[in-house]
Amino acid sequence: MDRRPILITGASGVLGWHLCRFFMERGYSVEAVYGKNPVRFPGVRSFSLDLENPYEFRQLCEGCDYAAIIHAAAMSRPDACESSPARAFAVNVEGTRILMDSMAPDTRFIYISTDMVFDGSRGDYSECDSTEALNVYARTKLEAERLVMLRPHSTVVRIAKLYGWESPFYACFTTWMRTLFEKKQKVPLFKDQFRSFIYVGDIARGLERLLDSEPKLSLYHLGGPQRLSRTDLGRLYADVFSYDVSLIDPVSFTSLGGPVKGQDCSLSSERFHREFGFQAASAREGLMRLLEKKY
Ligand SMILES: NC(=O)c1ccc[n+]([C@@H]2O[C@H](COP(=O)([O-])OP(=O)(O)OC[C@H]3O[C@@H](n4cnc5c(N)ncnc54)[C@H](OP(=O)(O)O)[C@@H]3O)[C@@H](O)[C@H]2O)c1
Repeated sequence: MDRRPILITGASGVLGWHLCRFFMERGYSVEAVYGKNPVRFPGVRSFSLDLENPYEFRQLCEGCDYAAIIHAAAMSRPDACESSPARAFAVNVEGTRILMDSMAPDTRFIYISTDMVFDGSRGDYSECDSTEALNVYARTKLEAERLVMLRPHSTVVRIAKLYGWESPFYACFTTWMRTLFEKKQKVPLFKDQFRSFIYVGDIARGLERLLDSEPKLSLYHLGGPQRLSRTDLGRLYADVFSYDVSLIDPVSFTSLGGPVKGQDCSLSSERFHREFGFQAASAREGLMRLLEKKY
């Protein structure tokens, strides 16, 4: 195992925060990069970098020798990208390019992308399927993917919709459900939009496998093994956490305004499984681990 530090961007966000904690717990040397929300982990160098203007990055990393950078920072909310497209391109595309160009050539670059690069007309997408971005967020992620795949030692990992714990600054899907269940309020959940929901701990474990290997290809999907609607996941969540399942209100995703999103962006993670021998847990197992607060 390469013992040089791993640099993780988006460390204040849901995924980045848990990646930092996971890799620290596993004994890796980690450095954390955040934007405007400062994160502090004991014994870890953390620093702020605005991806809209990341020109000081090279200076901040002067003399550092990283094994890899996991680039999880992004303008990740489709609504915000839709209302500020120029900013979304600056942060998600240009920011990625500058970060990548600032790294030593032998540093591995792992780019976290999304299942939303597909139009959702079919589902069970493999890495060979054609992409079709339906909104600004997806377009920026696709454009960044294209740049990343041109760089040697670089890998794009498209992850499915994640569930898990919040970070100190950002809530996630499960936090939102928990709040409504605890207040005994209705929990409106899409019944007709499908994803391969993945537990945040499994994203971390999958990325660890990838870091321990020499990937043969530059693009992988990493999602859970089931195609589920939010209603399906909500019912399992209520069951595992002993909440009142009757509070779930199945609604159609077409009832929601905002940027266009695909109906079925479920992913096939067969390639990841074949090459790295890793498969994410079923939703029930993932939720059990969430309940037990284990990655
Ligand atoms: N969540 C999901 O279900 C999901 C699914 C598929 C793909 N993804 C991808 O996974 C990654 C992580 O998603 P997430 O849900 O963890 O995101 P998140 O909770 O919204 O966090 C976003 C992170 O990006 C940072 N960031 C945003 N704008 C920045 C800027 N201008 N400069 C520097 N940092 C900036 C934020 O830092 P500050 O808050 O400190 O500014 C924060 O750390 C993203 O690339 C996203 O596209 C997520």
